[in-house]
Amino acid sequence: MDRRRSHAARMVVAALALTTTVLSQGGCDLGSAGVARAADAGGPGLQKLMKDRNLSEADVTAALKTYTPTGRHDEYYLFASGGHGGNVIVIGVPSMRILKYVAVFTPEPWQGYGYGDQSDDILASGNRHGHTLSWADTHHPALSETKGDYDGRYLFIGDKANARVAVVDLKDFVTKQIVESNLIESDHGGTFVTPNTDYVIETSQYPSPFGGEYVPLDKFDEAYRGAMIFWKFDREKGRIVPAESFAVELPPYTQDLADAGKLVSDGFAFCNSINTERAYGGDMEGRPPMESSYSQNDMDYLHVVDWRKAEQLAKAGKTETIKGFRVIRLATAIENDILHFIPEPKSPHGVDVSPDGKDIVVGGKLDTHATVYSIEKIKKLIADKKYEGKDPYGVPILSFQESIRGQVEIGLGPLHTQFDDQGNAYTSVFIESVVAKWNLKDLKLIEKLPAHYNIGHLAAAEGDTVSPDGRFLVMMDKWAIDRFAPVGPLLPQNFQLVDLSQDKLQLLYDMPLPLGEPHYAQMIKADKIHAEEIYKPAGTNPLTDQKDPFAVEGGKERVERKPDGVHIYMTAIRSHFTPDIVHVKEGDQVHLHITNLEQAQDATHGFALDSHNIQLSLEPGEHANVDFVADKPGVFPMYCTEFCSALHLEMAGYFLVEPKVAETKPAPAKPAKRAGG
Ligand code: CUA
Repeated sequence: MDRRRSHAARMVVAALALTTTVLSQGGCDLGSAGVARAADAGGPGLQKLMKDRNLSEADVTAALKTYTPTGRHDEYYLFASGGHGGNVIVIGVPSMRILKYVAVFTPEPWQGYGYGDQSDDILASGNRHGHTLSWADTHHPALSETKGDYDGRYLFIGDKANARVAVVDLKDFVTKQIVESNLIESDHGGTFVTPNTDYVIETSQYPSPFGGEYVPLDKFDEAYRGAMIFWKFDREKGRIVPAESFAVELPPYTQDLADAGKLVSDGFAFCNSINTERAYGGDMEGRPPMESSYSQNDMDYLHVVDWRKAEQLAKAGKTETIKGFRVIRLATAIENDILHFIPEPKSPHGVDVSPDGKDIVVGGKLDTHATVYSIEKIKKLIADKKYEGKDPYGVPILSFQESIRGQVEIGLGPLHTQFDDQGNAYTSVFIESVVAKWNLKDLKLIEKLPAHYNIGHLAAAEGDTVSPDGRFLVMMDKWAIDRFAPVGPLLPQNFQLVDLSQDKLQLLYDMPLPLGEPHYAQMIKADKIHAEEIYKPAGTNPLTDQKDPFAVEGGKERVERKPDGVHIYMTAIRSHFTPDIVHVKEGDQVHLHITNLEQAQDATHGFALDSHNIQLSLEPGEHANVDFVADKPGVFPMYCTEFCSALHLEMAGYFLVEPKVAETKPAPAKPAKRAGG
C-alpha cells in the first residue's frame, strides 16, 4: 500500500473513531477499548493537528463529510444563480468546490462568450429597448423536469432586472437562447418549470404598462399590469418557442415568486403578490415610500392560475397580441375560470409546492408562520364557485380559512421552503436568521439552525421535486459579517452547507461567493448530468448544435475573397493555427472561420486578436465564426490563450492589415545584419 494512502486511511479511521467517541459520550458507550483505539489510530499527529488548528470533534466530523480527495467527484451539482454576475455558478456538493461559471446574460472572456464569435448574437438577442445590456440580475435557476423530477438536460434562468429568460443546455453547459416577451419590464417569479417542462414560467415583478410605454403613474390602476408568462419549451430542439408561448394578464399587484403544481396540483401555477395596495411610491410627492405603503394590508393575494385551461384558451385563439406576444386578457381569464385569488399573510414571498403536490407553502416576510394551503380544498372551492368576494378587477377570491390546512409558527420572516425524503420541510426565516425544520404531516416545528447571517433562499438536494433526497441543504446567506477574513466594505455572500442526514441539523461548511448575489439554487444528483466531453462532429457550432456550414477540415484551410468580404478558413490544433499569417486590406469585411480540430478531452485552444476585443474559447471539435471590419491598418499578433501544450507560446501568428493607400514615407533602412543571420 502506498504510504500516502495508508496515512490518509489512518486519518479517516481516527476521525471516525473520534466521532464514535463523541457519540459514546452522548450515552452510547462503546467502552474504553473504542476510545483507546481512536487515540491509537489517530496517533499524536491528529491530536496535535486538532490542537494546533483549534478544531473540535464536530469540526473534524464536518471536515470528513465535505472533504473530497483528489480525483473523486462530488455527489451533487448545485446550480446557483450568479446574481449581478448575470451567470450561473456550478458548485460541487459536498465539497463546495466551484466547477464552472456558465456565462448567460453577461460577456465572459474565458469562455469567449461575447468576444467576437456567434455568442455575440445570443447576447444581442437579449438587448431591450434599443439598449445593449451587459449585465443581468439572475435570480431563479430551474432544472428541466420529467414527471416532476429533475432530468439533468436543461437549465433555465431568469433576469429580474430586464425580464429575460435564458436556456442553458447541460450537455455542454452553454447558453443557447435568451428570450424576452416585450411585455413586462422585470421578473421575479422566474424561472419555474411545469412537471414535464412543457412550459417555463416567468412572472413579472414591478407592474408596468405592457410594452414599457409611457403612461403617467396616476393611471397606475388602469394601465399598469402584471403577467404570468408561459414560455413553451421544445424539448427536442432544446429551445423556447416564443410563437407558442402566451401570457396571462394580472392586476398590478407586484407579483412575486411562483411555483408550478405537481401530481395532484399539476395543471396549476401559483404566485404571490406583495402590493395589493397598488402603491407606487412618491416620497417626495406627498405619498409614503414604497416600503411602508406596500405593507399596509394584512393580507395580499396568492394567485392560482389554471395553466392547462389557459393553454386551451391560447390554442383556441382567445388571446390578444400585444407587442407581438399573445396575452390572455384579465376579463377572458376571469370569464374562463383560470384565475383565482386567496388571501395570504403578510408581505408574502416564497410559494413552494410540497413533493406530493398536495400542499402549497407560503412564507410571509412580516409574518411568523409558514401557511399551508391545500390543493384539494382550493380545487373544491373553485369547482363549487364558492367565493368570498372579488378584487377590484373582478377576480374571484377564495376564503383563506377554507383554503388552508394549517399554519406553523416558525419565527419572524419566513421566506422559502424546501423538502426532504422524510416528510420534513425546511423554511428559511430571514429576520430571525435561522432555518426552521418542521413536519409536513402534523405541521409541528422540529428544530431551528442559526444561519450566519440573514438567510434568503435555501436549496436541499432535489428539494423541490416530487422525490427529494434529504442529505444536504445549502443556506444562501445575504450577509457574511464576521465569517471570513476582511476584504473591504463589500463582503461576499455566504453559502452554508448543512447535513440533513442526522437527527440534529449540522452546519458543515461556509463558502464565500464573491461575484454577485446568488439568489436561488437547485441541487441535482450528479449522475443525472451527462455532459459531453468534446463536440461531435468536428466543426460543431455550439449555438446551433450542428456542424457549421463554415466548418473547416484539416488540409482545407484557405483564404477566399468574395463580394461580402474576405473569408479566412482556419484550423487550430496543437500547437499552431493554419494559416498563421493572415493578410487583409484596410476596410475589408473579415469573416474568420475557425475550427478546433482536436478530438481529445480538455484540448481547448483560445484565439485572441490584439486590439480587436476578440477572444474565443475553442473547445475540442468546436467551430467559431467571427465577423469584423479591419478598419485600422497595422500588425496585430494573434495567439492561443489556453495553455494547451508545451509549445503553447508558439501557437501564434500575425494578422496583417495593409493600409489602403501606399505609404509615401521612405521605407525604413534595412538592418545591417539579420538577427541570427
Ligand atoms: Cu493552443 Cu495554447
